[in-house]
Amino acid sequence: MVKGGKTVSSPALQFKITPNANPLPEAERLKAFEHLGFGTLFSDHMALIRWSADRGWHSAEITARAPFSIDPASAVLHYAQEIFEGLKAYHAADGRTVLFRPEENARRFNASARRLAMPELPEQDFLAAVENLVRTDAKWIPDGEGSLYVRPFMFANEAFLGVRPAKEYIFCVICSAVGPYFKGGEKPITIWVSEGYTRAAIGGTGATKCGGNYAGSLVAQAEAYANGCDQVVFLDAAERRSVEELGGMNVFFVMTDGTIVTPPVAGTILPGITRKSLIQLAREDGMTVEERHYTFAEWQADAVSGKLKEAFACGTAAVVACIGAVKHNGGEFRIGDGQTGPVTTRLRTALVDIQRGKTADRHGWVRVIDGI
Ligand code: PLP
Ligand code: COI
Repeated sequence: MVKGGKTVSSPALQFKITPNANPLPEAERLKAFEHLGFGTLFSDHMALIRWSADRGWHSAEITARAPFSIDPASAVLHYAQEIFEGLKAYHAADGRTVLFRPEENARRFNASARRLAMPELPEQDFLAAVENLVRTDAKWIPDGEGSLYVRPFMFANEAFLGVRPAKEYIFCVICSAVGPYFKGGEKPITIWVSEGYTRAAIGGTGATKCGGNYAGSLVAQAEAYANGCDQVVFLDAAERRSVEELGGMNVFFVMTDGTIVTPPVAGTILPGITRKSLIQLAREDGMTVEERHYTFAEWQADAVSGKLKEAFACGTAAVVACIGAVKHNGGEFRIGDGQTGPVTTRLRTALVDIQRGKTADRHGWVRVIDGI
């Protein structure tokens, strides 16, 4: 924070914690845990912090999860000044409650905030909001394969119709007990290649997690569903040649010689935390990872020639999902034998074992939430 030309670090926010007077009864929660999907079952509380141009960040609290009351002129409803994050909390093998690389989410959140002309939230306050909420709703972390998906987000909440950065914002965190992202669980997914729609142009917002990116992708995602696919993959907006990423995941290709290829993060794709972690794990395991452009033409040719053995999508929600087949306007092709291959399985296991505390956290990626 700059005051009178001097840089002063902001003191950490203190959270007021008001327990939900009507939490979901335990029996109902446990029943709901029996059929976990993605993003439909929400915990009892939420974290809130408000920002205004005159006060900065203030009024941090953990309170009962409840609807917002928003002025119809609120800027977010008109100009979509909104950003979000996604991370997960787990019960580790030793009983501790952990988050995976939340500092990376805090950093990326602020990168998104800068691009969307929103105020940055000090990392310590982002982390405190997430940790206080997960601590309060710890019983919402399912056992076994499930996890607690944590969704921090921020939106412009000034009642003003002029087009300029708003002067008031709400930062909020909600949690959802989740199972697999895809309905088929760990079954290989089928991908639709969007040749008509693109996701992000150079200089645009592709590298940020702003809601608008997802709004713009929905018609292509609908096209994917209409063609019997699970997800859409986008090509670059300039030439429509290079593979960029899926609607909500990064993408990797595994060649016969063991080389792994993944599109570079150069402004138009989201710098995924799962992506970054897998690249590091693969390299430490002796694999060659090339961050380079990979065209749709190469993809088709390599799948047909057999040079391409495996492909997978990755992200917090989806974890690591094998791509078994690809469809596009001109036809379809299969990758390898269409089943989850050994490299995908190895990398998935290496990642999940760290996230769930089954292997040593050599990298310091796991953050323990104390007091649970
Ligand atoms: N790409 C997009 C467009 C996403 O929405 C996500 C999900 O957050 C990812 C990639 C993967 O990012 P991460 O691994 O940080 O979850
Ligand atoms: C995530 O993985 O956290 C995302 O935000 C992606 C979305 C498809 C749920």
